Amino acid sequence: MVTSSTELVSADHAEFACICECQSIDRDAVVELHRGFFSDQPSLPSKYFYDQSGSELFDEICELDEYYPTRTEASIMGACVDAMVEAIGPAGRLIEYGSGSSLKTRLLLEHMHADVTYVPVDISGDYLEQVAEKLRLEFPRRRIAPIAADFTRPFQLPSSRARQARDVVYFPGSTIGNFGPAFAASLLSQMRNQVGTGGGLLIGFDLQKDPAVLEAAYDDRRGITALFNLNLLRHLNRVAGGDFDLKGYRHIALYNDRDHRIEMHLESCHEQSVTLAGRTRTLSKSERILTELSHKYTIDGFTEMAAASGWQREQIWTDTNEYFAVGMFRS
Ligand code: AVJ
Repeated sequence: MVTSSTELVSADHAEFACICECQSIDRDAVVELHRGFFSDQPSLPSKYFYDQSGSELFDEICELDEYYPTRTEASIMGACVDAMVEAIGPAGRLIEYGSGSSLKTRLLLEHMHADVTYVPVDISGDYLEQVAEKLRLEFPRRRIAPIAADFTRPFQLPSSRARQARDVVYFPGSTIGNFGPAFAASLLSQMRNQVGTGGGLLIGFDLQKDPAVLEAAYDDRRGITALFNLNLLRHLNRVAGGDFDLKGYRHIALYNDRDHRIEMHLESCHEQSVTLAGRTRTLSKSERILTELSHKYTIDGFTEMAAASGWQREQIWTDTNEYFAVGMFRS
């Protein structure tokens, strides 16, 4: 979570006011960008992948031969949806963190009781509204109540209308894997606090496997993942006053064996200087900007992490290769 330093904010108030006024990011986001990018090991937050074209590129990634997670998770969902719906029980609200195109949710919505309110939460507000409109046409009897929010920061759910029924968070896609262990734990705690005792969590997580399979999944032959990675810079150029030259970087995806995670980077092709959110720095030739982590778990390891944040494991579903898992947890 970004704690904005009061000192910093008041000292640079004019600068912040300007950046925030002409761009579409707020002060906390500027602090977060500065902290990540203007450090010895530059990094940029993965959430900036998902503007309109980034969300579309991600949908394309999901169709790639090499990118197994979406397909595998969908097959697990397809095979086990009845058991999942039963495990969810009579939910009042299904709250999806990072809903994107809500592709995976349709299956659940088709099988769940018609009284359930679907609450998609996503950072990309325009895309969220488009998707909500489509869903209303597809599911005319269901309440769709989108929330445009950055779920990596605390946000408020409206108080529930259904007193009896429990809230269930749905967090598919192994998006949890984008966060380091400490932040993932705090996100799981935030979810627990939002649904309260008795609430549920249905969550997808990617499993450890042959590194060659992993690296191919994040560095596809058609170069779609490379475009997705570079689009982050284009997005920041637009919303955060960046002047990244997209031709000056190349996409890198490596599996880190020790920390069990894919790391995506953008490597600077030559020495260059970049301005972002009102500050300028130099990147040397071959210097790398970390843009994404994607952690791969064991079922036991994930269960322990969830337990430490107040979630008891109820059930785990997986595919025959054990490439991916979907777990039901109760608080
Ligand atoms: C949406 C975060 C699950 O980590 O696999 C896909 C994002 N990045 N290809 C992942 C992603 C590159 C994806 N998550």
